[in-house]
Amino acid sequence: MLIALASDHAGFELKEHLKDFLRSVGEEFIDVGCYSTESVDYPEFGRKAALMVASKECDRAILVCGTGLGMSIVANRVPGVRAALCYHVLTARLSREHNDSNVLCLGGRIIGNILAEEIVKTWLNTSFEGGRHQKRIDMIDQAGY
Ligand code: RB5
Repeated sequence: MLIALASDHAGFELKEHLKDFLRSVGEEFIDVGCYSTESVDYPEFGRKAALMVASKECDRAILVCGTGLGMSIVANRVPGVRAALCYHVLTARLSREHNDSNVLCLGGRIIGNILAEEIVKTWLNTSFEGGRHQKRIDMIDQAGY
């Protein structure tokens, strides 16, 4: 699986931590920035990674800002993206099983590194259940959001 990674300055340190984690579990990624803790604007980096998922250049994306909120708002403006802001493992699991989330948003100032690893591990390894949930996703796509 190829994963696009993005953050702003507030998510930079967690993004860097997750790069080591992803390497340790053998996942490939493309880091589209930012590349330091110097203040930047999350829409620029979140949109870049979300577009890579929408265009199928990447299979999934993980976006990190201070809260994860800004990144999730930006990513969900891109058609075809289903971004889930997850602060715990259960929502990460359900976002895959029920919503087929293809973008994970994390709050670098809200959660710690170990919880983030658990969320990412669950999110990467949980399959979409399909069935009645597929119909609902089709409804979102057909509405042209
Ligand atoms: C940056 O200060 C902060 O606003 C941003 O990282 C994010 O939390 C926005 O939603």
